Amino acid sequence: MSTRVTGMSCSVCGVQVSLVVPMQWVCPRATSADRHHVLGFDVVAADVDNFSSENPFLFFREQLAVDAFGAAIGLSEATRIDIIASLDAAVAGVAGTGFRKTPLARADELSDALGFAPSGGVWVKDETHNVAGSHKARHLFTELVYLLMAERAGLTPWSQESDRPPLAIASCGNAAIAASTLARALQWPIAVHVPVTAQESMLKALYALDADVRICPRRDNDPPGDPCVWRFRELVQQGALPFGVQGTENVWCLDGGRTLGWEIAEQMPQIDRVFMQVGGGAFASTFASSFYSSGGSARLHAVQTEGCAPLVRAWQRFVELGEPRHIGATWSDVMWPWEQTPVSFADGILDDETYDWIDIVGHMRSSQGGAIRATESNIVRAHHMAHEFTDIDVSPTGSSGLAGVLEIRDELDADEKVLVVFSGQSR
Ligand SMILES: Cc1ncc(COP(=O)(O)O)c(C=O)c1O
Ligand SMILES: [Zn+2]
Repeated sequence: MSTRVTGMSCSVCGVQVSLVVPMQWVCPRATSADRHHVLGFDVVAADVDNFSSENPFLFFREQLAVDAFGAAIGLSEATRIDIIASLDAAVAGVAGTGFRKTPLARADELSDALGFAPSGGVWVKDETHNVAGSHKARHLFTELVYLLMAERAGLTPWSQESDRPPLAIASCGNAAIAASTLARALQWPIAVHVPVTAQESMLKALYALDADVRICPRRDNDPPGDPCVWRFRELVQQGALPFGVQGTENVWCLDGGRTLGWEIAEQMPQIDRVFMQVGGGAFASTFASSFYSSGGSARLHAVQTEGCAPLVRAWQRFVELGEPRHIGATWSDVMWPWEQTPVSFADGILDDETYDWIDIVGHMRSSQGGAIRATESNIVRAHHMAHEFTDIDVSPTGSSGLAGVLEIRDELDADEKVLVVFSGQSR
């Protein structure tokens, strides 16, 4: 089954936002004091023509919210296709590859090592050769397409390329590399806010992509939380364009993330369980919203580490509250920042708060799944097994969904079909 986007609405306060309102990133009721709002896409079932292309943004174009936005603001179909295809070509010029559907296959040796029967096992969706080495570029691509479509229709506050305000992101990991790669493809200036602990290798990669790297020490008057996020928000308030991978800062990142779920539903619609590693939550929530709406079935398990597990805590609280129907209304009761300093070998999923948690909780409930807190030893073991039993050069964060499988292996039948996403390459 396919869907089309008809508009947006906030999963918390319910306010509806028309697609034709340009430069709309967040719920109009979100304020700097109240960030507990997140827009989502309203969809209806529709017959769509999948375009014959290996590029997921062209193949699934008619299901994308950015395509619906482009149509709503008067861009012709040819123009919309041209914007996506030209951006993809420009990205390929920097990244060495444009976007292509990524492979999904049964990991035979890994399945044997984990004691699965030939009819069951572990299937791996391999994102390590996606643009910029992780799934993150999928989210960022639609944010950039959105800007290009608004610009082409004359709906941006600037009219010439030379007047484009900078893009802005707070990240020192895969998202920063992906954002800087896409920005570089268009020579669009980007400010990347990184913590004082950012690794030298990461900084070098960002400088090589011409990013304006801003190291963000905590300031005396900063509220609790990540100083990179405070500096990022300040810059956005001054007119920079939010270009990160949190739906609470820019809804358009949630659009491109959906290509992952559509691809998986097409490659393997019947799965018994899927284990998704969760940091800020955009990855798992967009996978779920697209996979289930296109007919996929599987029990959804969100996986976090014992060193930072705000979503696992939220899930437990949500169950204790009797699983209220209006999930967004429970935000303050179930989700708050992790108090201790987050730490794990899987250092890409250490967001102290799971911003995009609502859809994950909703789909864990409806699919009879649940959240899993993986021990640090299973995070390490999962990475080790991924390298011993597959050829994929995955990072500790990228293999951390597998730690969820290890954690509950005893509860799984040998003939269950289990899916994990190896979401990023080693650096
Ligand atoms: C390789 C990789 N996988 C998964 C994630 C988790 O994604 P999200 O923060 O959207 O939950 C990240 C986030 O940085 C990542 O880098
Ligand atoms: Zn709202």
